[in-house]
Amino acid sequence: MAQFKRTLVTTALPYANGPVHLGHLAGVYLPADLYVRHKRLKGEEVLHIGGSDEHGVPITITAEKEGVTPADVVERYHRMNLEAFTRCGISFDCYGRTSSERHHETAQEFFVELERKGIFTRRTEKQFYDAASGRFLSDRYVVGTCPICGSPEASGDQCEQCGTHLSPTELIEPKSKLSMATPELRDTLHWYFPLGRFQEALEAFVSSHEDDWRPNVLNYTRTWLNAGLNDRAITRDLGWGIRVPLDEAEAAGKVLYVWFDAVLGYISFTREWAEREGDRELWRHWWQDPETRLVQFIGKDNVVFHTLMLPAILMGWNEGRSEGRYNLVDNVPASEFMNFEGRKFSKSRNYAVYLGEFLQKFPADTLRYSIAMNYPENKDSDFSWTDFQNRTNGELADTLGNFIKRSVDFTNSRFEGQVPHQCTIEEWEGIGVDWYALQSQLDSAYEGFHFREAATISMDVARAANRFLTAAEPWKAIKSDPDAAARTMALSLNLCHALSILFYPVIPETCDRIHRMLGFKGGVDGLVRKGEPILGTLLEPALSKGHPLSGESEILFTKIEDKEIEPELRKIEALVREAEAREAGATEQKMQFKPTIEFDDFQKVDLRAATVTAAEKVKKASKLLKLQVQVGSSTRQVLAGVAEHYAPEEMVGRNVLLVANLAPRTIRGEVSEGMLLAVEGEGGRLYMVEPQGEKINGQSVQ
Ligand code: MF3
Ligand code: ZN
Repeated sequence: MAQFKRTLVTTALPYANGPVHLGHLAGVYLPADLYVRHKRLKGEEVLHIGGSDEHGVPITITAEKEGVTPADVVERYHRMNLEAFTRCGISFDCYGRTSSERHHETAQEFFVELERKGIFTRRTEKQFYDAASGRFLSDRYVVGTCPICGSPEASGDQCEQCGTHLSPTELIEPKSKLSMATPELRDTLHWYFPLGRFQEALEAFVSSHEDDWRPNVLNYTRTWLNAGLNDRAITRDLGWGIRVPLDEAEAAGKVLYVWFDAVLGYISFTREWAEREGDRELWRHWWQDPETRLVQFIGKDNVVFHTLMLPAILMGWNEGRSEGRYNLVDNVPASEFMNFEGRKFSKSRNYAVYLGEFLQKFPADTLRYSIAMNYPENKDSDFSWTDFQNRTNGELADTLGNFIKRSVDFTNSRFEGQVPHQCTIEEWEGIGVDWYALQSQLDSAYEGFHFREAATISMDVARAANRFLTAAEPWKAIKSDPDAAARTMALSLNLCHALSILFYPVIPETCDRIHRMLGFKGGVDGLVRKGEPILGTLLEPALSKGHPLSGESEILFTKIEDKEIEPELRKIEALVREAEAREAGATEQKMQFKPTIEFDDFQKVDLRAATVTAAEKVKKASKLLKLQVQVGSSTRQVLAGVAEHYAPEEMVGRNVLLVANLAPRTIRGEVSEGMLLAVEGEGGRLYMVEPQGEKINGQSVQ
């Protein structure tokens, strides 16, 4: 790996469309903060850039629902999230917002540059237009019936019921969400970013990181590369966002697609940071000096935007330039997800613990520690209240907190609050901690993004410290061998000091308190912010004989009692019950029969027994199978949304019931001539309706 002089760390910009929850903290913000703080301990130059993603359709939908402006929505959540992060000790150097002037300017600058180089393509396409509201409708503004499962509440991008990704024109009876009027198709021009133009360059780029990127990151990225990269629309007809910076009439009323602008936020926020530092050009160090390393923390759902899209945009910018070239990302430690009490966090179901809310009840450091210990590094992890309680009580309070307090209290009462002995290196090394090995293990844990391991290594030192103090029994020795007691206490106090440094990335506020109890002005944070490489000081005892403690002794962690988490557990039970009731309600609803129809109406439906003769999966439609179905002497193609329930080979040879006279439809560019009947069982599992009998193929149902 190349040597780097400094590291730029970025964290995915959360949508300012709701409060961040513990899942976000665990996957992105805490790991980034641990990484950044560890680098600060080493005295390295590091910058942490984050901020709010304030554009996009979900935000305009929230605004319309609430009868406020999109600006109101993002203002509220930007503040709320920044405050929660601050309370949690996430140490951003800049927390920007994509609605800022500087960001608009930066994103437009990129658009203009790529347009000037002729990189974009343009396409006129048909899009739904709501004449009543005088607006083109983006996908989520069109609602209608799902062509796959028949749910009447599908949205133009996806059907919530069956999970199929849709395009608005695939909906049956599409309606505008704005006016509920039937929209009409009109021509509209859009700009496309030709990702495929960068296919080779991206492949080479990704291959160069084969050894240092996580397997999940490589997998997601390779899946895209292997499928072949397509053009991506980067403009939208929408009133909220960054104006397409062209004078042409066709660009009027169009904004940049939120993802195109958001990934550039990292750059604009670094610019804003530089301006605030009083040196407008300072940002270039961080983005354009090849000796700067770029590390982007994200969740697994954002991988390709960081491994393919942003790199391709930057490659486009860099083309033909010898100066002002941007660095490409060096690593993308994408996390898996952290679940909560065994279930996925879900904002739409309100199944979540929000960060701000949590911190009103419990201290940030207890949360940071528990979450670090549950970091979803290579598989989904789980956060539970009981685990949180056990770690806080057993590890933070009983192990770390108790050791510090015993050391400080005994020194205060028996040694006049001063370090009573000058420890030698030999004594320091004789404690039972291999300081050299520890330091390098800790460093590889942090540098390798193994945050659970890093926190565990630190807690192991606290355990060793406890063992040391308990075995030495200074409270007995003080009578029989006061020198030995003095030696024990001097070593213990030095261990307290070492722990305040070791634990600094994980529980920074507590470490500052320990540092102050040990008689230092300003905390560890004050030191590292000045760029002092203090991790190396662990190799020697840092406190000399006579060093005065502050005289204060604090309880660092209060234990969490059962009665404090009981209401939380009850809340979850209620949420789970609600979710289950909703699921049950959904089945019940189906028992409300549709309105009565005449026999003649039923007769219009031509239901036939048919046989599946071939089946295959459909690209980019994980729910769909493309089937060839034989009905009597004819064969036809039918798409069925059962790919998650039947493997293609399981379908071949099956007798099925076909709606044979349904008007053909095109789904995912494939024609479907008819529909197969299936029933839904438990957990959404689909079962084909399979007529049985001799020589029934082609016969109608009667
Ligand atoms: N707002 C997106 C999300 O929450 C993440 C954007 S990351 C950025 O999923 F790179 F685009 F900034
Ligand atoms: Zn559906």
